[in-house]
Order: sequence, then C-alpha cells, then structure tokens
Amino acid sequence: TKPEPYSATGEEVDTDANVRAQTGPYLTTAQGLRLPDTDHSLKAGDRGPVLLQDHHLREKIMHFDHERIPERVVHARGAAAHGVFRGYGSATSVSKAAFLGKDVETPVFVRFSTVLGSRGSADTVRDTRGFATKFYTTEGVFDLVGNNIPVFFIQDAIKFPDIIHAGKPHPDREIPQAQSAHDTFWDFVSLHTEAAHHTLWNMSDRGIPRSFRMMEGFGVHTFRLVNEQGGTTLVKFHWKPKLGVHSLTWEEAQIINGVDPDFHRRDLADAIEAGAHPEWELGIQTFPDTPEQTFEGIDLLDPTKIVPEEWAPVQPIGLLTLNANPSNFFAETEQVAFHPGHLVPGIDITDDALLAGRLFSYLDTQLTRLGGPNFAQIPVNRTHAPVNDMLRDGLHQTGVHQGVAPYHPNSLDGGCPFQAAAAQGGYVEVPVETPKAAKVREVPASFADHTSQPRRFWLSLTPVEREHVVAAYTFELSKCYENTVKERVLRTLADIDPVLCSQVADGLGLPAPDPSGRLAEVDPSPALSQVGNSWPTQ
Ligand code: HEM
Repeated sequence: TKPEPYSATGEEVDTDANVRAQTGPYLTTAQGLRLPDTDHSLKAGDRGPVLLQDHHLREKIMHFDHERIPERVVHARGAAAHGVFRGYGSATSVSKAAFLGKDVETPVFVRFSTVLGSRGSADTVRDTRGFATKFYTTEGVFDLVGNNIPVFFIQDAIKFPDIIHAGKPHPDREIPQAQSAHDTFWDFVSLHTEAAHHTLWNMSDRGIPRSFRMMEGFGVHTFRLVNEQGGTTLVKFHWKPKLGVHSLTWEEAQIINGVDPDFHRRDLADAIEAGAHPEWELGIQTFPDTPEQTFEGIDLLDPTKIVPEEWAPVQPIGLLTLNANPSNFFAETEQVAFHPGHLVPGIDITDDALLAGRLFSYLDTQLTRLGGPNFAQIPVNRTHAPVNDMLRDGLHQTGVHQGVAPYHPNSLDGGCPFQAAAAQGGYVEVPVETPKAAKVREVPASFADHTSQPRRFWLSLTPVEREHVVAAYTFELSKCYENTVKERVLRTLADIDPVLCSQVADGLGLPAPDPSGRLAEVDPSPALSQVGNSWPTQ
C-alpha cells in the first residue's frame, strides 16, 4: 500500500505527477526538502571557503554533471512529433494487425533524423534521412524504422560498423562532420559496389530534402504479413507525403546550413504549431510469398534493390497525421528507442541478412545509450497495451513489482500468468520452413547485380536532376585526396552509365574509364523511366 501523499502544509499532493512536472508550490531538493536559497553555496563566512556539507550544492551539481547521455551511434541528430495513424481497412485481407483495421486510430511518435552527423550538426546536409515511427497499438508497440531512401548501402549487417566507420568523421581531426565528402566513405563504397545504388540516391536531390514534411519513407526490407486465416504476403512499406516530394538545391542547402542549421526541425515544429499538420499515407507493395522470395527476378531479401512501382503499385492502407510537438526534447525525442523487431500479430520479418543484424543492434545499443535494461519504462517508450512481462529489477527500475517471484508456470504465487494463444491475439511467428543447408559465409548469386537498378534510377531522372547528380558526385569526389579512390568510383559509374561517368570525370579533370563489360542492359523505355513517386521529383 502506498503511503498517503502529504505536504508540509497539509494539502494533498500527487507526488508522482508533481515530481514529473516540477510544479510543486516551492523549490525543493530531490528529496522534497524545502529550499530557501538556490543561488548561494554554504560558506564559512561570506568570503570564506565553501563547505562540503552543503548537500543542495552537491546534489544540484552532481545531477547537472550527468545530464547528457551518449548520443545515438548513428542518427544522432533528429526531430520528432506526436500524431495519429488511421487505418483504411484496406490491408485487412493481408494482415490481421488490429491497427490496420478500418478507422482504427492509433497514437504514434515519429522521429526524423540525419544519419552521420552528431547531435549538434546541421540539418540540410547531403545524407540519408531516418523516418522512424512508433505505433502504440492495442496489441503492443509496432516500430517501422525506415529511411527516406528505399535501398541500403550493404546487403549484410556485418558490414554496418565498416560503412559507418568509413562515413563518420575521421578519428584524428573529426572532420568532415556531416557529409560524405571524404576519402574513406568513397573508398568503402567503391570497394563495395553493392553501395552504388544507395549512393546514387544520396547524390540525387533525394539527399537534400526540402523538409521532413516532404519526404517519402521506406521500410526498405521486405516484411511478411499474415492474415486471420494464416495466409502470408511479402510486402514493402512506403510512406507517401501529402505535400509531395521536394528537395533543396545544393546552393540553397549550403546557405541554409549556415544561416539556420535548425532549418528542418524548425520547419516541422512551426508547421505543427501553426496547425499545418503534415500527413503521409502508408502504403504497401505486395508480392506472393513464394519459396524463392523473388519478384520479377528481383531478390526480395536484397535490401539494395527496389521493386519498381509500375510492377507492384503501392496500395494505400492508412493515414499518418503529425499533430503535436514534443513538450520535452530530451524526454521524448532523445530517449525514444525504436527497434525493427517491435512487431505485432499480423506483421513478421523475413530472412534479409541486414534486418537480422538490426534485430540485435538496436536493443544492444539502447542498453548502453539509455543506461540499462529498463528503457521500455520511459514514458515515450511505454506500450499502451497492458504489460505482464516477468522482467524484474535492473538499473533505473521504476516499477514496484508485487508478488513473490516472476517465473512461469507458478503454482504458489497467484497461479499461472495468463498466456494468450494465437487465437486470442498472442504473437506467433510464421512457421516458415528453414532450408536445410550447410553453414556458409557467402553472398547469394542473386545479390550480384549492383548496377542495373542504379542505371534504371539514373535513366528515370529529368535532365536537370541528372545535372544535380553529376554536380554532386563532382563536388563530393573533388574533396577526396586520393586519385585511386576517385578512379575506382569512376569505374563503378562507367558500369552504371557512360554519360554519368564521363560528365563526372570531366568535372574532376580525370579520364573516363571504359565500362568493365558489366554495363547493365536495362530497358530505358518511357514506361520504366516514368516510375511512380518513389523516384525523384522536384
Ligand atoms: C538508428 C534506420 C540499418 C543500427 C536508426 C534510426 C533509423 C534507422 C531511422 C534512427 C532511429 C531513431 O530515430 O531513434 C535504418 C534503416 C536501415 C538501418 C532503414 C537499413 C535498411 C542498420 C543496420 C544497423 C543499424 C544494418 C546495425 C547492424 C542502428 C543503430 C541505431 C540506428 C545502432 C541507433 C539506435 C539508437 O541509439 O536508439 N536506424 N537503419 N541500422 N540504427 Fe539503423
């Protein structure tokens, strides 16, 4: 039983709310001791030494000393907002997830971010943007942890530390802070040609969005949806902004970075405050769940590939509206912990090797970043569904758990906690057959084509968009010191498109290499270059 709340003056105080909101009637220490003064240390005489016995001084400074937590190892710079997701009901034939039901409204928290810059870096840099959404559904939290670019640099998570080491600032001088313009980044992407597709998107106008409100979002990986009957469908998730997709020009981005490094977070917060609530439609591309997990020859487990929207149209399944700014940046934007493994019944993962590594990585990094295993109790991370998790103790435990011991089954302490069967909403993984195969460290042959999709992307661009791409490669590569790195990038570009390659080579004053013979044969017919909204528009 809780002791009655009381205050020194006898009035009733809701202590929990009071501590959280810091709205007590007078200034106190963290222990509730009323303070007459917080501006002067206790001293032996007004010009004498400060006394160690001043608990208020020590508590105030000790707490301040520990205000900062580690920034995210990637995606450190971000801005977020609260909102609501309303299901259209159009996905119920493929997924039993309750939040996708018709007119079901689910609270959400969305964090946008850059990837490489530190927490204090500028907003309008050339980079991929994170687009992470936490759905507080009635069946538990579902996180869609996506980006504004539909493909990723690598096909296997084991390379993630390498690409990030190559892209983050140099360890000696810690420059450049937020751009890809340096040798190690280009060295990595030229040595791993699977990165060519994502890099080309970064060099396009998609790398410098006009606003978070005008970005698409992509789940990137293929996920598996399950309906009430147990039928499965492979899908890719897309967010389509109601305001359309818009980018800055490089010159605009450069000026804004200097004049207003908070441009994107200011834009988001101001729009919401002014009542111009940004909206996105959630959509899915659906593919039959065949044993091959391919679609039109595209390996759906390869995160460096898209499926063109002409071949699999994006079908709208719900509407996201952001309608409230966080009231405390640290408590919400900084402490939110997304995880691609936070799933709900009706949504499951696939064997994408990049996704598998992510399932480990986020929980692991949050253990350090948020100081122990209890970060699910932080208000912004709390599920809105009832919790009975048998997890106990640990750093920063705020629960006062009851009962003798959390184990299951338990015949002594109140009987067995209820376990939900699948039919009652319990989460059951799709019983996908795992192929019997030897252990290998190999890349599948179906992941080998690194150039035909970048080529399609390049061919889909308008002349002015192509000019921007050429200018971006030329500018970024001109910052490299090593000619060998530039030459290797040019060789990759030669395999994507000889015009792109020769124009960048001209800009750099280097000879354009011949294609290696791997120049991708793609059909540049108008039908394919008129690909839908997932391709750049100004
Ligand atoms: C953070 C997306 C690949 C590790 C993030 C965030 C996003 C994101 C949006 C920011 C979350 C936030 O706002 O708090 C993606 C996408 C990927 C990808 C779309 C590929 C499709 C990976 C991989 C790894 C990884 C392969 C590691 C193996 C991390 C880590 C964080 C992070 C450690 C920081 C999380 C935190 O501190 O809370 N990612 N990521 N990501 N990502 Fe990824």
